[in-house]
Amino acid sequence: MVDPLPRFPDGFLVGCSTASYQIEGAVHEDGRGTSIWDTFSHTAGRTLNGDTGDVACDHYHRSAEDLDLLSGLGAGAYRFSIAWPRVQPTGSGGPNTAGLDFYDRLVDGLLARGIVPVPTLFHWDLPQALEDRGGWLSRDTAAYFADYTSHVVTRLGDRVRRWITLNEPVVHMAQGYAYGTHAPGRALLLDALPVAHHQLLAHGLATRALRAAGAAEVMITNNCTPVRPVGEDAGDVTAAAVYDAFHNRLFNDPVLLGSYPDLLTGALGDVVREGDLDIIRTPLDALGINYYNPTAVGAPSGESPLPFELRPIEGYPTTAFGWPVVPAGLTDLLTGSREIYGDALPPVYVTENGCSTDPGLHDQFRIDYLDAHLRAVHDAIAAGVDVRGYFVWSLLDNFEWAEGYSQRFGLVHVDFETLTRTPRDSYHWLRAALTGS
Ligand code: BGC
Ligand code: BGC
Repeated sequence: MVDPLPRFPDGFLVGCSTASYQIEGAVHEDGRGTSIWDTFSHTAGRTLNGDTGDVACDHYHRSAEDLDLLSGLGAGAYRFSIAWPRVQPTGSGGPNTAGLDFYDRLVDGLLARGIVPVPTLFHWDLPQALEDRGGWLSRDTAAYFADYTSHVVTRLGDRVRRWITLNEPVVHMAQGYAYGTHAPGRALLLDALPVAHHQLLAHGLATRALRAAGAAEVMITNNCTPVRPVGEDAGDVTAAAVYDAFHNRLFNDPVLLGSYPDLLTGALGDVVREGDLDIIRTPLDALGINYYNPTAVGAPSGESPLPFELRPIEGYPTTAFGWPVVPAGLTDLLTGSREIYGDALPPVYVTENGCSTDPGLHDQFRIDYLDAHLRAVHDAIAAGVDVRGYFVWSLLDNFEWAEGYSQRFGLVHVDFETLTRTPRDSYHWLRAALTGS
């Protein structure tokens, strides 16, 4: 008998998150175009062991089995992402019907099982053809994204009520364009900043397209981290404020307040045109927050080209990835957001939270992690934050980007040779917590 979780408000949704390139495979099927992640993962030296998403979990062919896993778990909702290059193989033009058919079946399969579909329109798999025209460094990509969104909502909008525009624009900017550790692999450091604005503009235009098509609920998912200066030294405190501006406020302020943080306005320069911020702050029904860990920041040392330096956080257990486990950081993030944004903060969903563990099936570590973080969410609700749901990252072990198949985040173990799925102890634990059986 598990220790029961605290009682969440009626209607609180608990589910799982996944992303297209991380699970689908079938990269050449039904007219799908090439994405930047196909290119990147097939470039020597970019991913651990040269792993690619060519097959991944083969979810494209095994979605019925995966939907049964969700339903067996008692999941109330499923957050998945739609691969833009399945819908528009070259990023523009009329939709590829066969690509949309896959998501159409997925949505029907969810609804038939009583699970709320929560699609994300962009989880980093940009059509390569758009990258060839500048990717998110180009303002045009925002308009292309709105067009793509219209195709998707036209097809699925009669059944899908809740939508997420972008996943973690900060991580896509930082890893993809500033550091080059993710696709498209550009290492522009601070010159990556226009990527933030163009993604946010895409978000605003897509929000309008979704609303025009009658979408009931629209949100963006931001990766947020409570930032702690490593010391009381003015240099550390300033560096922490700058990092907070880059990581959190650059993406939350414009969508919630219609302005960029003062610290970054100058750096954005004339990338921001008149009227853009009005589009970006088109009202949202909810904010998606992904939380993994807090960040410790100090003043830059040596020759660093960046105005901050990330430091290790000591004194906590760490996941297989080496990330510190700090559940209270999630409470702080949620209550802190409420303090910063006040009534401008819409209802919140925790759209990702989870940990990587050893491959084995007996993942008490994950059970403890999820239990503690669900309690941390409950604490935030008790403190007055309107949190409406919580999504575990992730349902399945999957292609963990630059780390290939080495980091396992699944409630369900996947054998990448045979593609056999086996629920871990954490899956059974969560099912018991959700269904009482
Ligand atoms: C990010 C950092 C870093 C930097 C450079 C912000 O991107 O949060 O991770 O990449 O600014 O642009
Ligand atoms: C991303 C996921 C990723 C997870 C774990 C998040 O930043 O949205 O795609 O797998 O973190 O690294």
